[in-house]
Order: sequence, then structure tokens, then C-alpha cells
Amino acid sequence: MSAHIINGKKIAELVRAEWKLRAEKLAQLSTKPGLAVIIIGNNAASGIYVKNKVKACSEVGIYSEVHSFPENALQDEVLNCIQALNKNPNIHGILVQLPLPPQFENNRVITSIAVEKDVDGFHFYNVGALVTGNVVFPPCTPYGVMVMLERNHIPVEGQHAVVVGRSNIVGKPMALMLLEKGATVTICTSKTRDLPQFTKKADILVVATGKPHMITAEMVKPGAVVIDVGINRLPDGKLCGDVDYDTVKEVAGYITPVPGGVGPMTITMLLCNTILAAERAQARTDR
Ligand code: GUN
Repeated sequence: MSAHIINGKKIAELVRAEWKLRAEKLAQLSTKPGLAVIIIGNNAASGIYVKNKVKACSEVGIYSEVHSFPENALQDEVLNCIQALNKNPNIHGILVQLPLPPQFENNRVITSIAVEKDVDGFHFYNVGALVTGNVVFPPCTPYGVMVMLERNHIPVEGQHAVVVGRSNIVGKPMALMLLEKGATVTICTSKTRDLPQFTKKADILVVATGKPHMITAEMVKPGAVVIDVGINRLPDGKLCGDVDYDTVKEVAGYITPVPGGVGPMTITMLLCNTILAAERAQARTDR
């Protein structure tokens, strides 16, 4: 039997409509949520992501501004820009699009963002908050996955979740969020010895490796929930995930497509985090 397809686009639309109301409520209190996006260099994919983020902001009533720097920009120029945004009361969220050009120290840049405006949740403080179960801003992609599970009434507690990928953006926070909800979590990488031995045990399998079609039907337990975080461009220009969708959908119980699965959720959760940051800023002025 073919898997139930988790429609990320549809869930994203529902979530956005709910949060748009929250943004409207804030606007009535004279706080229009504001997001600043910093982009450095000419990475084509980053350019597209940033354009999509800005468009999504305007759809839910978030003010946004983009600060673009050339590939050879100096780190200090960017740090100065972040300092100014940290102090700007009209900006509630700051996002530095990754990856950065090689002359940049990722950690230095990320930790210069004010923790209360770190809507990506990448600052060490916010990572520590997540580890200790006191999440401030859940990182957008794993947050989107958790919402997809919840909206499909997929239980997490007691389930065996296997995460393939160990990035700071997806794999590690994903594992922590599943753990926090009571899953038994195994973290693998694309280099794990005998990877199928682990993936075949997964009730929930989340894949974020950036390797097209690496998860095949033989690697999946019948009925499993398969979440594909990968977005890869094939030589023919088509997009595909890290999961071999056509064969895995015949084995899995639930599956996310690419495109139209996790991608729309990531941007949506960024909007939610920005509105949340603005609500917190508004609450601070009320005190
Ligand atoms: N690059 C790829 N994914 C992300 C993300 O979620 N946030 C940022 N800032 N950069 C990214």
C-alpha cells in the first residue's frame, strides 16, 4: 500500500494563517513584527531562499529588510551591521543566511546576534536552552518537522526515531526535539557503518544528508514515517530529496515529498519565530 503523503505546503498555509492573526493583533498594539536578513556573497541557493523568506514575510504582515554584502566583505562590516540591528526596535528577528564565505568565522557572527532576536535559534545560548529543554527559538527546519508530525497526529513518545545527518541546522536540533517529546533517538550520518541496520529500526526516519536518493525502500521499515529534509538539484534541473521517493512511498506509512514537504514548513517556522520575538518585545514594553 502506498504511504500517506504529508502535504507540507498545506500545513504551512494553515500555520501561516494562524500566525498572521497574531501578527495583526500585534500591529494593533503598534508593534509590526520585523525581520532583518543578512546575505553575504553570491551563493545562488541562498539568494533564492532569501527571496522566498522576504516574500513570505509580506504575506503574513511582517516587515522585512535585506542587508546584502559582497563575497569579499569584511567580517567587521557584517558585525557592525548586526550590532545596529540588535539595537533597532523595529527589528525583532535577525537571520544571517548560511553558508558564509570562507573568511568568516561562523560562530563569531552567529553569537553576535542578540539572543532575543536569534530567530534561527543558532546562538550558543539558544542551543543550550534547547539541550536543557527550555527552548527559546526552536530551529526552523526541525520545528517544521515537529509541527508536521503533530498536525498528522503522529505519536512521538516511545517511538524509535532515527535521524540521518548531524548538522547544527537540522540533524542535531532534530534529534533533541524528538528526544524532548519522548522518542528514543539514534543519530546516524551518511558514513555510518551498515546504515540500513539502523534505518530499518526506525518508526520515524528523518533524513538530512544532502545525498540524493540515498535512502532506498530496503532501508525502511514497513509503515514507518519518513521525513525527507534534503533538497538536491539533479543534473536535469529537477529537485529531489535524500529519499528515493518513488520506491520508499510503497513501503512507508507516511512520507514527505520534495518539493512540497519540509521546505515550505522551514520558512513558515521562521515567520512564527519572528512573530514570537515581536510578541515578547511587546510584552517587555508592557511591563
Ligand atoms: N542555510 C540553510 N538553512 C538555513 C537556515 O535555516 N538558516 C540560515 N540562517 N541559513 C540557512
